[in-house]
Parts: sequence; C-alpha cells; structure tokens
Amino acid sequence: MPDFTVRGFKVYKAFLSQQAQAALLDQIREVARVAPPFSPQTPYGKPMSVKMTSAGQFGWFSDKSGYRYVEMHPQGAPWPAIPDAVMRIWQSVSGVDRQPDCCLINYYGEGARMGMHQDKDEADFQWPVVSVSLGDEGLFRIGNTTRGGKTESLWLHSGDVVVMGGAARLTYHGVDKIRFGSSSLLPKGGRINLTLRVVE
Ligand code: SIN
Ligand code: FE2
Repeated sequence: MPDFTVRGFKVYKAFLSQQAQAALLDQIREVARVAPPFSPQTPYGKPMSVKMTSAGQFGWFSDKSGYRYVEMHPQGAPWPAIPDAVMRIWQSVSGVDRQPDCCLINYYGEGARMGMHQDKDEADFQWPVVSVSLGDEGLFRIGNTTRGGKTESLWLHSGDVVVMGGAARLTYHGVDKIRFGSSSLLPKGGRINLTLRVVE
C-alpha cells in the first residue's frame, strides 16, 4: 500500500532501507561504468542539466531529431541489463505482470533540474512508470494531464518510490531543484532517479 497518493501518483515513503539503497546504488554504479552517463541534447539544441544513462533493451535518448528510445548507448554498445534489485522494486509496486524494458537513470548534480513534461515516448500507456529516488532530496512537482494549471509539489527523499499509472500515467511532472548535499548516500552529493518503463 502506498503511504499517500497525490493526483493519482502513488507515493511509497522510505520504501528502501539504508542497506537496500546502498546495495541498489552498487548495481547502478556498475551500469554507469559500462554505459557512462551523458547529457542528452534537447531538440531545441541545449544540453539537459541532468546526466542520463539506461539499462534494459531500450535506453531513452534525445538529440536534434527528438526524444526517443534507442537500443544502443551513444558509444555503440547495447545497454546493460536492468539490475535484479531494480526489477524487484517493479515487481513489488507496479501491480502488473509485464516486465519493464527500460530503466532510465537520471543524475542530478548541483543546480540540475527537469522541466515539466509527460512520459509519452512509450508505445502503450496502460503500463505504469515506477520512479525510485536515491541520494539528495528533490522537489518533485505534479501538474495535470494537460500543460499548465495548478500544481502540487513534494520532496522526494532517498529510498522513496513513486508509481505513475492509471489515469495519472500522462500527468505532467518535473523536478524544480535538489537540496545538494542533503543525503550522505552519494559521497560527492547529487540525486539519482531511476524510472522503470515498458517501452514496447
Ligand atoms: C523523470 O520524470 O524522468 C524524473 C523524475 C524524477 O527525477 O523524480
Ligand atoms: Fe518523467
């Protein structure tokens, strides 16, 4: 059961223990070693402030041609497999039998943010998106299924999990800022967010 729901987003506070967070981080570091994080170019020509990489059959990518999923890291290798610890989180909270085929890994350094957007590059919106936060606190903003309107914000802490599904699957959301250095999980600071998606 989620601790609470905001505009259809199910929030599980402290879903992962400290120990589970550390173990998960080790697996994410291994993915980042094989598939180094990079700052995608937006279609508007500016690099994103968030660094990204992916695990799974598909990785999220962006450049002048637009947002899409690709089967290779820009350096040319397939993305590494989605770590077991990540799959277990999906199985616990997604409520669906289908496995995710992308784990997008976002790294927010000091000053990084993510503008309001919908996750809509996937083929079928019946599948939820599951988000896992690690490291520094991030101010997560939730809007509406169309752009604009009133929003609600909440701080996501290390170990929190959010399920974006059902009628809220196409709700706009973004990250306004992080509290750099607020968590000791990442020795050099920063926030990691994993989003698990079914792409195909
Ligand atoms: C995203 O929407 O892709 C990331 C959300 C987050 O960083 O919490
Ligand atoms: Fe998103």
